[in-house]
Amino acid sequence: MKKILEMITEQIEKAFAEAGYDAAYGKVTLSNRPDLCEYQCNGAMAAAKAYKKAPVMIANDVVAKLAGGEMFSEAAAVNPGFINLKLNDEFLADYLRKMQEDGNLSVEKTAEPKKMIIDYGGANVAKPLHVGHLRSAIIGESIKRMGRFLGHDMTGDVHLGDWGLQMGLVITELKKRQPDLIYFDETFEGEYPEQPPFTISELEDIYPAASAYSKEDPEYKKEAMEATFQLQQGRRGYQAVLKHILNVSVTDLKKNYENLDVHFDLWKGESDAQPYIPDMVQYMKDEGYAHLDDGALVVDVKEEGDTKEIPPCMILKSDGASLYNTTDLATIVERMKLYDPDEIIYVVDKRQELYFTQVFRCARKTKLVKEDTKLEFLGFGTMNGKDGKPFKTREGGVMRLESLIAGINEEMYKKITDNHDIDPEEAKETAKIVGLSALKYGDLSNQASKDYIFDIDRFTSFEGNTGPYILYTIVRIKSILNKYKENGGNASGCVIGTAAGSGEKDLMLILSRFNSAVENAFEELAPHKICAYIYDLANAFNKFYHETKILAEEDESRKAGFIKLLQLCRDVLEQCISLLGFSAPERM
Ligand code: ARG
Repeated sequence: MKKILEMITEQIEKAFAEAGYDAAYGKVTLSNRPDLCEYQCNGAMAAAKAYKKAPVMIANDVVAKLAGGEMFSEAAAVNPGFINLKLNDEFLADYLRKMQEDGNLSVEKTAEPKKMIIDYGGANVAKPLHVGHLRSAIIGESIKRMGRFLGHDMTGDVHLGDWGLQMGLVITELKKRQPDLIYFDETFEGEYPEQPPFTISELEDIYPAASAYSKEDPEYKKEAMEATFQLQQGRRGYQAVLKHILNVSVTDLKKNYENLDVHFDLWKGESDAQPYIPDMVQYMKDEGYAHLDDGALVVDVKEEGDTKEIPPCMILKSDGASLYNTTDLATIVERMKLYDPDEIIYVVDKRQELYFTQVFRCARKTKLVKEDTKLEFLGFGTMNGKDGKPFKTREGGVMRLESLIAGINEEMYKKITDNHDIDPEEAKETAKIVGLSALKYGDLSNQASKDYIFDIDRFTSFEGNTGPYILYTIVRIKSILNKYKENGGNASGCVIGTAAGSGEKDLMLILSRFNSAVENAFEELAPHKICAYIYDLANAFNKFYHETKILAEEDESRKAGFIKLLQLCRDVLEQCISLLGFSAPERM
């Protein structure tokens, strides 16, 4: 459906033209004085110069052309030349009725569907999932869902960190603990047996131990580097161990992401890009893109007009080892070859911004991507504790995601059981659903690039700009709808009525902006805009609810109109939270 702001703008443009002015002056915006009007046009001010006329005269001419139209109940020229607009109630109601009939709640599928790969998650195998990766998962999932809703072809790739020194460390420590494993036999050539030689909790113990030893003991570190090197050279036994690490770790990661309602289409990782490296390096050398600098192979990526120093992109270290850069570039090669995307979006910690600038420039310069392939970095800020420092456990360690979620669910359970009598099993289930909303909304309601403070008390509150508040509003609507039905009400065949009061109209105005809210949010890759939208919507609904007797309304047709309005409100809210990556319970 056409956006309501577009419809209004078209109408005003037409009036400008009919009054003898350039239609381009007819741009309309949301009012910045909601006490005076709903929409406004400031075009007469700009036109004044061109036509050498007082702005208010132009505004008057335009307003005169709007007389008798169906779209506005009020169109006023006010000093010094604003055009203030209020929508006609019937026009607005009609828009919402059509929205309710529309299969996609008024949101049009894009006319130009794009193929997009979204690189998010980024968990490192053999390490427990920790809060550092939480934001990527939450933000990336929401952007993927928004893109899909708008009709784009979105492919989410978890891009696991499954390559490099961390693997050598695990191999080294495992060798210390289980020296007799067949994989450590240098002549191992065989297939590896199904049974992994460690459990996930053993694996999670192995990595931190190895990492600590390697910091204290240079010999140990050397051994780990050697193991990494041999793994990269293709030593069979080590590759078998890597496979085991991956299997055990990925099973666990899948469970964790599942609990977050985060789903990837591709479970690829850094190791998948390795086969592409040799040819890519050769190509960069052959084409003269890469040159040796102090023994290392680099590609210059500075550009004219840079205001700060952008160091060269290193492709190979002087010992010939590949780096994080190399892997990311080879991943681009792989993605272009296998999927040929129009766009790749990276949802990664903003501290990696310079790094991605180098990678993107290098990919462009060396033509790993097509000229019109868009590479986009969506950097997010840090989740901090109340002390303003990166979030830690009470003991000062890295917080595991599982513990964080358990903590939220516990808090939610307390709040739910404090509120009313409820079966403990149901309360537990509900706490999980509401807890996820607290966690995700707490994150997504902030602009992604900003740091934010993880505040469990605030996030789990039923009041204020929180996930539980939004869910509470949805549940409230559902409960009214259920009561209506239980009392024998049936609104099918009825339609949304015209607004009787300002609270009802405010609610209707916000509902009518759903399509533009979603489109804007995706265009700017900004889930926080969906949050801002539903917070407004929930507030408007609750205000309407408090000033209106919905079920006690005596006029049956008016009551049915309310019910239809509530249904639309519920559907829009539920669609929005689904775009954010969570859902609402039936009761809470
Ligand atoms: N595993 C990386 C980390 O923990 C994040 C990966 C981000 N994605 C990428 N294509 N580099 O920092």
